[in-house]
Amino acid sequence: MGEGPEIVSTVAALRARLAATRKAGLRIGLVPTMGALHEGHLSLVRQTKARCGLTVVSIFVNPAQFGPNEDFARYPRTFESDCAKLASLADVVFAPSAAEMYPNGFATRIEVAGPALGLESDFRPHFFSGVATVVARLLIAAMPDEATFGEKDYQQLLVIRRLVADLDLPIEITVGETLREPDGLALSSRNAYLSQEERKIASRLNVVLREVATKVQRGEPITPTEAWGRDALLRAGFASVDYVAVRDAETLAPIESLTRPARVLAAARIGDTRLIDNIAI
Ligand code: PAJ
Repeated sequence: MGEGPEIVSTVAALRARLAATRKAGLRIGLVPTMGALHEGHLSLVRQTKARCGLTVVSIFVNPAQFGPNEDFARYPRTFESDCAKLASLADVVFAPSAAEMYPNGFATRIEVAGPALGLESDFRPHFFSGVATVVARLLIAAMPDEATFGEKDYQQLLVIRRLVADLDLPIEITVGETLREPDGLALSSRNAYLSQEERKIASRLNVVLREVATKVQRGEPITPTEAWGRDALLRAGFASVDYVAVRDAETLAPIESLTRPARVLAAARIGDTRLIDNIAI
């Protein structure tokens, strides 16, 4: 046996591998990723490992969740260093090919409404159906006891919770908080695209989110505060702002005042790079 995790590339092999673990009564945890692993991903894997007898990390850059003009082709692919990072953390890496996940004739697409409506969907219309389709496929392939997702992609997390509830999948969805750089920038595989100059601008995203949260907590009205946040990002050097929104934390519905837990979410572009972040209020 080598040092690293066992690498499995087909659904059949994954199922065969996990059947033995399940028979032995071990709890199985899955952490779905697109690779280019950073400490944020690794924190999810560590949490899973602490709770589970067997930890599976999937690495698949899912073409179905990228739009035609998005960064699928240039998305960072660092499989060998990903496996090295997982050496003492994951037992199994599931790394299927696109043909394994979407064989010829594949014709199923999962559409979630509810929390998938608005925000990201206004700017990436096929994103959540791409995510829901691949996550359903990964969950059904692995049938883990639990699967872990990050709050970094907050709307995605709610969409996956909805999917799992609606399909009655007997899988616990567990959540990891967002890991950040010291200046607040959320760790993201896409941060690798940023120049030094852009990296400085990027750090303002989290600062502005915190300022929006503070204003709303002080009782300032929501719509003008969202507009203020958008202007603050443009002034900080973002090329464009897709949204700055204060929403109900559970449903993502617009709110008029702070009566229940809320979330501030934002998406903005610097050059060709699109960044998202969110925080609790
Ligand atoms: P990816 O962007 O690789 O993220 C994999 C998981 O890591 C997601 O659950 C995401 O929320 C979490 N994550 C990302 N940055 C994080 C950070 N700074 N701190 C903590 N967790 C973080 O999200 C996807 O892949 C894909 O959409 C996927 C769910 C794998 C479906 O293709």
